[in-house]
Amino acid sequence: KMAAVTCIAPVNIAVIKYWGKKDEKLIIPLNDSLSGTLSMDQMHAKTTVMASPNFKKNCIWLNGKEESFENARLLACLKEIQRRAEQNEANKELLQWNVHVCSENNFPTAAGLASSAAGYACFVYALAKLYNVRGDVSQIARQGSGSACRSLEGGFVRWHAGSAPDGSDSLATQVVPETHWPEMRVLILVVNDSKKKVSSTSGMQRAVETSDLLKHRVVHCVPERIAAIEKAIRNKDFPTFAEITMKDSNQFHAVALDTYPPAVYMNDVSHAIVDLIHCLNEVKGSPKVAYTFDAGPNACLYLLEPAVAETLALVNHFLPGPNSQENAIQGIPVVPVN
Ligand code: DP6
Repeated sequence: KMAAVTCIAPVNIAVIKYWGKKDEKLIIPLNDSLSGTLSMDQMHAKTTVMASPNFKKNCIWLNGKEESFENARLLACLKEIQRRAEQNEANKELLQWNVHVCSENNFPTAAGLASSAAGYACFVYALAKLYNVRGDVSQIARQGSGSACRSLEGGFVRWHAGSAPDGSDSLATQVVPETHWPEMRVLILVVNDSKKKVSSTSGMQRAVETSDLLKHRVVHCVPERIAAIEKAIRNKDFPTFAEITMKDSNQFHAVALDTYPPAVYMNDVSHAIVDLIHCLNEVKGSPKVAYTFDAGPNACLYLLEPAVAETLALVNHFLPGPNSQENAIQGIPVVPVN
C-alpha cells in the first residue's frame, strides 16, 4: 500500500529583494519582494513524496543523501499541510502514514542559485497534491524558505509582507503570467558554484540587528520601487524595469556591507560584470540588460530576446581571462522567463 506524487518546481530570481524578517519563526518578511519565475527546462527542483503504512518514520533524501527530518522548517511545512488535509475526510487513513521524501536539484545547491526556493516550493506543492489540499499554499512554502513562496506561480510574482501577526496574509500572488512579456529572458552567469559563505538566513538576521540602511530601505525605498516596477512590468517598459532591478540589487549588497560584521557576497568577477553591463547600456543609450545578484557572486541578467546574442558575446569576450573555464559561463542557460 502506498501513495506517491512527483512534482517539479522552478527557480525564481528577485528583482526587488527580500532581506530581513519581522518574524523569524513564521518567516514573515520586513518588506514586499518581487521576482521572475524561470522556465523549468533548465533549472528546477524535482521532488517525490510517498506515504505508506510500512514507513517506520518520516525520512528525506536531498540530492541522494539522507538528511534529518528533525528540521524546524521541514516539520512546519509538513504539519501545516497535514493540518489542512485533516479537513478532508478522505485523508483519514493517509494521514496516519509516515512520509518519505526524495528531492533533487539539477543545479548547484546553496550557491546563491535559489535552490532552497525551488526545493521548498516543490516539497509543499507535492504534499498538497498527495493530500488533495486546495487553495493558497504559498503561506506554507514561505515557512520552509521565504523566497520559496514566489516559486508557486509563473511569470512575475509579488510576495506581500502582510500585516497579520500569524502570517496569514503573507503570501505570493502573480503580477502577470509568463505570456505577458514573452521576449523576457534570464542569463545566469555562474561565477562560482561553491556553497555560500554566509547563509541568507543568518546574513539577514545580522542585517536586521545591525544595519541602519536596511531600516531606511524597508520604509523609504522598497514601497515605491515595488509600485514602480510593477507598473513597468505591466507596461513592458524595459528601461525602467532594468534601472529599478539594478538599483535594488546594489542596495541589497550595500545593506550586506552595512551589516556588522559585513557580509560580502559579490567578488571581483561580479563587479566586472556590473561594470560591463553599465558600459553596454551607456553605449546603447538606454538600458538593454539588467544585472541582479543574490547572496552569492553569481550574476543573473534580465534582458529581452534581441539582446541575448550580443550580450553573451560580450560576456565571453571580456570576462573570461585565464580562468574562463571556471568563472565565466559554464553552459549558461538561456532561460525564458515563464
Ligand atoms: C537574496 O529565502 O533563502 O535571494 O527565508 O531565511 O530561507 P530564508 O531566506 P531565503 O532568502 C533569499 C534572499 C535573496 C533575495 C530574494 O530571493 O528575494
